[in-house]
Amino acid sequence: MTVYTGYLAIHKFEAELERELEIRGLKVAMKKDRLYLVEGNHPQLIWAQMTAFDLEFINITSINDGAKKLKALGRNWGLFTVGHHRRAQLIQDELPKINKKPIPFRHALPSMPMGFWTLWGPDQMLATQKTSSPFALGEMDFQEDKEMPPSRAYLKLWEFFTVYAPEAIHGGVSIDVGSCPGGWTWVLRTLEFDKVYSVDKAPIEKRIMDLGRIDFRQESAFGLDPKNFEEIDWFCSDIICYPERLLNLVNRFREAGKVKNFVCTIKYQAETDWENTLKFLEIPGSRIVHLHHNKHEVTWFLKGANS
Ligand SMILES: C[S@@+](CC[C@H](N)C(=O)[O-])C[C@H]1O[C@@H](n2cnc3c(N)ncnc32)[C@H](O)[C@@H]1O
Repeated sequence: MTVYTGYLAIHKFEAELERELEIRGLKVAMKKDRLYLVEGNHPQLIWAQMTAFDLEFINITSINDGAKKLKALGRNWGLFTVGHHRRAQLIQDELPKINKKPIPFRHALPSMPMGFWTLWGPDQMLATQKTSSPFALGEMDFQEDKEMPPSRAYLKLWEFFTVYAPEAIHGGVSIDVGSCPGGWTWVLRTLEFDKVYSVDKAPIEKRIMDLGRIDFRQESAFGLDPKNFEEIDWFCSDIICYPERLLNLVNRFREAGKVKNFVCTIKYQAETDWENTLKFLEIPGSRIVHLHHNKHEVTWFLKGANS
């Protein structure tokens, strides 16, 4: 039986996924809507909101038969429709309900696998229980804080520390570069760091400063000298700048050997800068993901840089 890896492109970023497939030498065997199928087993890609591994075609004789076959494979199913929408929804309605409630920051991730399925033809499903995310179609939502954070950028850091760095933080130092108006600094302040350096050419909001244990520096992050800092547990950047400039800054701090962990947003202008994105990926042990809360930008991170 032929298996496929399914890549569900992010809405409006289909061109990025297509370019990434090309760069990785992955040939698209079939495509419907935002779903790209590549024959065989392949790794997760940055510009796929969900990667579905070991996808198989399954023939069905009725709505009941479809639901029965999916239930036999697993409990949780996220549906992406590529056609036959009503029939697909009727099958989905027969399946156990999935919890789509927004979660709090740092909430434990669902432990049950989240399957992916679609009705490819009226009598043919494509399904797998092996996917890249415990959330249906890779979409996660938070119980937002509508009062404290001065911008919605905080949701990116919430998602990062919930999904990719859920380990507890006990003290230590973090630095937030490109911090104005203060959303990320606020998130870092709510974690248990002893001290948060916050750097931007523009000031952060006073009510964030008033939280205390924040050392705000109003200057360009590109002029920072790693020598002037103690050991940094988390180096966080959400600076609006060319990826190459960010890469140089990150490399300066890496070479100084002072930083344990990095999380940085790589932001793009009109075009995605693949050249520098791939240079970030060459940094050993690091990863790039497109968070659900990222737009035309991706998140690069490196944990345990000094180990
Ligand atoms: C997207 S905003 C950051 C939002 C912030 N993370 C938050 O949660 O509120 C990008 C910031 O990068 C800052 N920036 C641009 N160039 C900079 C530089 N050379 N040094 C420091 N900050 C810079 C801008 O002033 C802007 O405040």
